[in-house]
Amino acid sequence: MRTIIEPFRIKSVEPLRQTTPEERERYLEQAGYNLFLIPAADILIDLLTDSGTSAMSTEQWAAIMRGDESYAGSESFFRLKHAVDDLTAFRHMIPTHQGRAAERILFTVLCKPGHIVPSNTHFDTTRANIEFMGARAVDLPIPEAADTQARLDFKGNMDVDALESLLATEGADRVPLVMLTVTNNSGGGQPVSMGNIEAVKKVCARHSVPLYLDACRFAENAWFIREREAGYAHWSPKQIAQKMFSLADGCTFSAKKDAFANIGGFLCSNDDLVAQQETNLLILTEGFPTYGGLAGRDLDAIATGLEEVLDIDYLRYRITSTGYLGRHIADHGVPIVEPPGGHAIYIDAARMLPHIPRSQFPGQALAVELYRHAGIRSVEIGSVMFGEAARHELLRLAIPRRVYTQSHIDYVVEAILEVNDRKHAIRGLEIAEQPPFLRHFSARFRPCQS
Ligand code: F0G
Repeated sequence: MRTIIEPFRIKSVEPLRQTTPEERERYLEQAGYNLFLIPAADILIDLLTDSGTSAMSTEQWAAIMRGDESYAGSESFFRLKHAVDDLTAFRHMIPTHQGRAAERILFTVLCKPGHIVPSNTHFDTTRANIEFMGARAVDLPIPEAADTQARLDFKGNMDVDALESLLATEGADRVPLVMLTVTNNSGGGQPVSMGNIEAVKKVCARHSVPLYLDACRFAENAWFIREREAGYAHWSPKQIAQKMFSLADGCTFSAKKDAFANIGGFLCSNDDLVAQQETNLLILTEGFPTYGGLAGRDLDAIATGLEEVLDIDYLRYRITSTGYLGRHIADHGVPIVEPPGGHAIYIDAARMLPHIPRSQFPGQALAVELYRHAGIRSVEIGSVMFGEAARHELLRLAIPRRVYTQSHIDYVVEAILEVNDRKHAIRGLEIAEQPPFLRHFSARFRPCQS
């Protein structure tokens, strides 16, 4: 059969609430045209993020009932440890309440003022946690990735020559670790090839610098390697993921993505001394090392999710359905970051709305219009989020895992194509009220008059 179906059936449903155009106009005004400030109950289809928004399986709900809430030595911890050991083989694993807690602990231990941490592209919490330590976060994506229209198999790769010359000019003693984000979220959800991980590891090893994966979407990355990289077509996604982890010296992980959990994360390392220092910090803010800021039931949900996500039918459906949204809008004239990524489709709003200058936030204007038109929530990744540092003006449509069916996605396609048909009428936005930081969560806007 050629039709790829959702590889699950639905046992429990949540109603969606329709709103009228008049209601949505009012909600937008009340929220200062910032979709973070609209209550979720007023959203029809929520593509704000794929993080913590997954539907859990019957096995995960059963695992939740088995959760062991002992303060120390909980059985749930050992089940999670077993799943992580099997997948990553790292010597040490500590649970954290989510990915950024792992980042905070890692960088507190490894980074000092003056240090530099290179990555293919840092996620915003990763960058913020590095900068909070007084170190510098440097993005080294391959130069071809700057062109949103270039269709490369592994557009998330790191520029290995740039890494080499950074280490040569700055000195390896100022680089406490190198990171690779798989898949590359801020770079369009694009995968990183095994060949690139190997090449980066080689450079790191030569300079005795540890390599860490930001592994939030490791399974989606493994699927792209299986599909696109020579030599991996007959490997299981799990074998590919195991090889990816074997090339690294540690990882940060947000279980809110590829572990289908609504909360959680962990931090792994092969270095005994580093792990000891991390555990000391964990106890200060997260909790005892066998629960690290989570309930036992959460640990069990993550352990089960880590196994489920590597299922071939699931990954084929996941990557195909994201591509389905991408192709259906791009082939009808909506410029997206090509090719479609794993967890999200990114519309190039600057290219779609050339009449709106960067200073009037084309990505935000498009997000507002999509909500106004069809009740769909997306997120701007451009000048609202990154200010002057923004490289592109993008609108991200992130797909929660196992949540929406094909007809929901068809509705999203229809809405985007209708908005595209009258895109010349979309007006830019200006800032009405701006807090000193976290602008994208709390700024208020107003429509430009001209
Ligand atoms: N790294 C990457 C690549 C991420 O995408 C995220 C979160 C994190 C780290 C932090 O993990 O949220 O568990 O603390 N990304 C979400 C998103 C928020 O919408 O892309 P966290």
